[in-house]
Amino acid sequence: MEICFATNNDNKLQEIRELLPDFHILSLKDIGHSGDLPEDQNTLEGNSHQKAEYVFKNYNVDCFSDDTGLEVFALDGEPGVYSARYAGVHHDSEANMRLLLDKMADIGDRSAQFRTVITLILDGKVKQFEGVVKGTILKSKAGEKGFGYDPIFQPKGFDSSFAEMSSEEKNKISHRGEAVKKLVQYLNHLSK
Ligand code: IMP
Repeated sequence: MEICFATNNDNKLQEIRELLPDFHILSLKDIGHSGDLPEDQNTLEGNSHQKAEYVFKNYNVDCFSDDTGLEVFALDGEPGVYSARYAGVHHDSEANMRLLLDKMADIGDRSAQFRTVITLILDGKVKQFEGVVKGTILKSKAGEKGFGYDPIFQPKGFDSSFAEMSSEEKNKISHRGEAVKKLVQYLNHLSK
């Protein structure tokens, strides 16, 4: 089955393709789209829906889109929906991590979660799936793998950060992994 994953993030495309080996996942490039998709809502649910709807309306393909945020409880859910541009510039992971570590310098409760919302638009019908992984924000970076906030996030029950795990290990327990599992279960159930 062909389905477009409405993202420009090659890391995420690679992760999703590993998680969905039985599907032909089209990229935005594959459907002829270049540039960013609109995402100006103030919730993960809103942004995720906005991106999928844009692709469905403009390219008329089945698609799904994800939106993820790192939610730190002691900071009332920051950086949340603003995770990509927390320090002001889009996708400057080093600056984002530095700002978060600075803000948390005197905070004892370092609990946080990554949360992903996937919006699927299939034959025009909209469905959302959520995945969450709980953990803690480390005091300094550990590991070189992954992307974004991976070096400072340690999932609950593990001794290493996401950036110290292989992509297979991370996919098994990650927020996106959980949301994608729900998406896959739904798609498999429909095709029976
Ligand atoms: P997006 O909405 O899924 O693009 O994610 C927004 C931002 O959250 C990204 O730019 C990253 O900074 C961060 N992020 C998303 N997923 C992950 C992850 O799996 N690990 C670390 N950071 C992530």
